[in-house]
Amino acid sequence: MLIAAQSILRRTELRTEYTRTSIINRNDFNKPYTINLPVEKPNRKTGLVSTLETDSNTHLMSAATAPAMSQPPPPPGPPRSASKNISNSINKKPAPPPPPPRNAPPRPPPPGNQGAGAGRAHPPPPPRSMKRPAPPLSNGNVDKVEVKKPRVPLEFGKIVIKKPTVLRDVNSFHRKHKVGQGTYGEVFMGADKVTGEIVALKRINTEQEENGFPITAIREVKILKALEHKNIVKLKEIVTSKEQNGENEGIPRNVYMVFEYHEYDLTGILQSNEIRLSQDHIKSWSQQLLAGTHYMHVNKIIHRDLKASNILIGKNGQLKIADWGLARSWNEDMKRLTNPVVTLWYRPIELLLGCKEYSPKIDIWSVGCIIAEMFRRDGLLKGIDGESSQLNLIFQMCGHPDINEWPKIGQMCPLWNNYEPRPDEKPLPCKLAKVLKQRLPHPHWMTNSAIDLIKNLLTYNPEKRWSAMEALKADYFFEKPIVKDSSKLHMKFGVDSVHELSVRQKHMNMRAANGSRPNPTTRM
Ligand SMILES: Nc1ncnc2c1ncn2[C@@H]1O[C@H](COP(=O)(O)OP(=O)(O)O)[C@@H](O)[C@H]1O
Ligand SMILES: [Mg+2]
Repeated sequence: MLIAAQSILRRTELRTEYTRTSIINRNDFNKPYTINLPVEKPNRKTGLVSTLETDSNTHLMSAATAPAMSQPPPPPGPPRSASKNISNSINKKPAPPPPPPRNAPPRPPPPGNQGAGAGRAHPPPPPRSMKRPAPPLSNGNVDKVEVKKPRVPLEFGKIVIKKPTVLRDVNSFHRKHKVGQGTYGEVFMGADKVTGEIVALKRINTEQEENGFPITAIREVKILKALEHKNIVKLKEIVTSKEQNGENEGIPRNVYMVFEYHEYDLTGILQSNEIRLSQDHIKSWSQQLLAGTHYMHVNKIIHRDLKASNILIGKNGQLKIADWGLARSWNEDMKRLTNPVVTLWYRPIELLLGCKEYSPKIDIWSVGCIIAEMFRRDGLLKGIDGESSQLNLIFQMCGHPDINEWPKIGQMCPLWNNYEPRPDEKPLPCKLAKVLKQRLPHPHWMTNSAIDLIKNLLTYNPEKRWSAMEALKADYFFEKPIVKDSSKLHMKFGVDSVHELSVRQKHMNMRAANGSRPNPTTRM
């Protein structure tokens, strides 16, 4: 099962795609971040660390507390540390009381389980609220004691027994047009038949999966159930179809994740001629992206597939990080993580150099690429021919890594030997600042502070690469034009809705009309 799950994950991971919320000032950050962050207090119920404690002045990142986890099974993967954060709430069930040792005196049963009483040699003290002495739990056959069925939920210690959740049928929604092509299915626009609410339905096709259900989808659901932040896409519910999966009995053929619907994704926006962007959009979306990233990172989640098409933008200007299929919980002790993660164009140098002991900083590199892409309205590092060509592209733009800047490169990155310049070779210099000023629709938007921000996000040494928190304090966000609240962004565009899929289809139609073959570099 584990091997199959890993192979599924690997398949997914190997895919290479063809393809501002509030007015803030620097002092606002000091309150919630520099003071509160070191003492990240997890919510007692959920174990979730909120990125913002309470600060009425700063509504950049609303305090987030996740809904209680519905006791997910532990995911495959490396062992988790006992730190209190969201990753633990994802990876651990609430500890059940240990089973009684065979010959040990049994513990009092939960109310409602009295029927299974035995262990007569050691009758437990009667529960306080019960008149009749409760027979203890036992593995053996015992006389049934008639008890009234209690009402749910039943409480025993900390365990709450809930009614099983009955998933709604997908027929509760009108299925409209396709807005996205997923790895395990497609994404459709949908409308709730009762409320009329517009949603996005992401189909998980269980038939593609030998073992019943794709592990990436399980991870995505678990992580999404735990995360709650205004810059992270909201999973509303899961619905199923009645038809069964032919190969795996009991598993519905289709399972859909129901999300809030967002009119745009960033690829759609950047590739559409009908959409005129301003500096306000770029600055606000950069800040919102960093805010969502900061939230997941303090909660020890790595996304591992940040890219423009996974960034959704609503008609209200709000940005949401989507597609959590590759995300995982993380801690500092993890030494052997899956290497080929993150879509090639957005993949950081350490992953390209074979590193398996990586950190949330891999997402930060992707964020740097996305911010640069917003300025350029085109990808920054569009490698066309696999990891090697991507690395060479990075070296051409950012220079060869300097061992003094990144002393651990050889230790961290097994492939560094293959790429290290020979002693007689002149190392390539960094041209990033120059490149960032080229091919821009609005060159004056790319200020020195913007360059400084992007350079710090694209720093080679992950330890020196800025965290999302450091990036949120960058001068870029404090120079004019001051970052605007998402609600103040001009969101009336020439198109009401556009996603990567519609842009890709449009380009393909245009090429077909021109009689040319698709150019892989323009597919995202
Ligand atoms: N909540 C949503 N609202 C609108 N469009 C969405 C939503 N979620 C996904 N999409 C669209 O569907 C595409 C694919 O969804 P995604 O979750 O990224 O799946 P995959 O894992 O296959 O990339 C996205 O790039 C986006 O265009
Ligand atoms: Mg995606």
